Amino acid sequence: MKILVVGSGAREHALCWRLARSPGVTEVLCAPGNAGIAACAEIVMIAPTAVGDLLSLAKERGVALTIVGPEVALEAGIVDLFEAHKMPIAGPSKAAAMLETSKSFAKEVMVAAGVPTATYEVFTSEAPLREYCKRQGAPLVLKADGLASGKGVFVIQHEQDFEDAFASLFGSLKAERVVVEEFLAGVEVSCIFASNGEDLIPLAPAHDYKRLMDEDLGPNTGGMGSVCPSPRISGAELEWIQERCAAPILKEMKKRGTPFKGFLYAGLMVPTDPAQRPEGIRVLEYNTRLGDPECQSILVRLASAPVELFEWIAGVRGEKPTVQWSNLTSVCVVVASNGYPENVITGDEIVGAELASLVPGVVVFHAATVRNERGALVCAGGRTLSIVGIGESRESARRSAYKAVDMIQLRGNRTRRDIGS
Ligand code: AMP
Ligand code: GLY
Repeated sequence: MKILVVGSGAREHALCWRLARSPGVTEVLCAPGNAGIAACAEIVMIAPTAVGDLLSLAKERGVALTIVGPEVALEAGIVDLFEAHKMPIAGPSKAAAMLETSKSFAKEVMVAAGVPTATYEVFTSEAPLREYCKRQGAPLVLKADGLASGKGVFVIQHEQDFEDAFASLFGSLKAERVVVEEFLAGVEVSCIFASNGEDLIPLAPAHDYKRLMDEDLGPNTGGMGSVCPSPRISGAELEWIQERCAAPILKEMKKRGTPFKGFLYAGLMVPTDPAQRPEGIRVLEYNTRLGDPECQSILVRLASAPVELFEWIAGVRGEKPTVQWSNLTSVCVVVASNGYPENVITGDEIVGAELASLVPGVVVFHAATVRNERGALVCAGGRTLSIVGIGESRESARRSAYKAVDMIQLRGNRTRRDIGS
């Protein structure tokens, strides 16, 4: 069968890599892909938001199943269009993807579904927001309502940081709505559930590292690394999360006539004190897709056939598949470009990616990479490579990942040294 993967990040590289080595998959197409994906899929230069062109491609090439990576394609209505043309696709409709594309909508659904989450208020103009923040004081969390690639959230620890947040929210982000939330303490875990609209299958839990610098310092990013399985929650806690934080959302979305099928990613804050768990676990956000870089560390551990899972999500397979995981641990380290996330510098050569991929127990996934006229690998955006180490323990996975990371040369790259420690 032919499969089309939509997107161009390391997440999509991991998807293409895993699908290309799956029984029954004859061809993988990826639009628009990247220089690394070209090794395991045919690259087609169509943007993820050009949904009409993607539909024509899928029809012309006899694609049996399309898998959507990024939220921008969901927001552009790719699933609605493909489904209207009876083309199987694994992902949520535009209406269901609002769980990610609008933070205020997600909050409203969480409250209606009785999901545990931080208390919040929504503001549509600056003056009342300022007044509220002044009254509440720090710590407080401010979030722009729409998609902002992980850059629209401001965790305010000190009063003096409010001004910078207001400047970004109403300046570069042009936020029309701002969600203000109570600050939650704890550690973060990403629990992703596959859904066919009726039922759920949990993926192995992972956690990612949102801050740019070691020890969780610096600005929020799209994610600088990930670990799977996450040691931060137990199997029993994952079951609690499924029951309290995922299943009620499925029920609520179905009730509203916009059933959720695809990957429901619950970003959770987990209290560090075991006495407060699981009852103190709170949902920070939903994403409506696989996480990046969580997907990279999750997929390398997937032992069962991925196609069955995607077919079940897309509704072309009725029987619920059994998903199996290897006993190994994976640690994914993101190598980001000079200046990421604020002032990304592109065009610099990346040396050593092929050598790094030869380290035993390592897989190198590309994100923003292109080849120049000499065939050399060049940085084309923020996050450039995801380097995944796989091992018997987190320590050995981490060691392999950093051995490979140390082989990469990219001028001024931003890479955390504490992933998985
Ligand atoms: P979000 O995009 O809503 O997940 O927010 C991005 C990041 O901001 C999260 O991964 C957390 O690190 C942090 N964050 C979001 N909401 C809160 C909150 N209510 N309390 C503490 N930290 C938060
Ligand atoms: N790693 C966070 C995200 O995919 O949004």
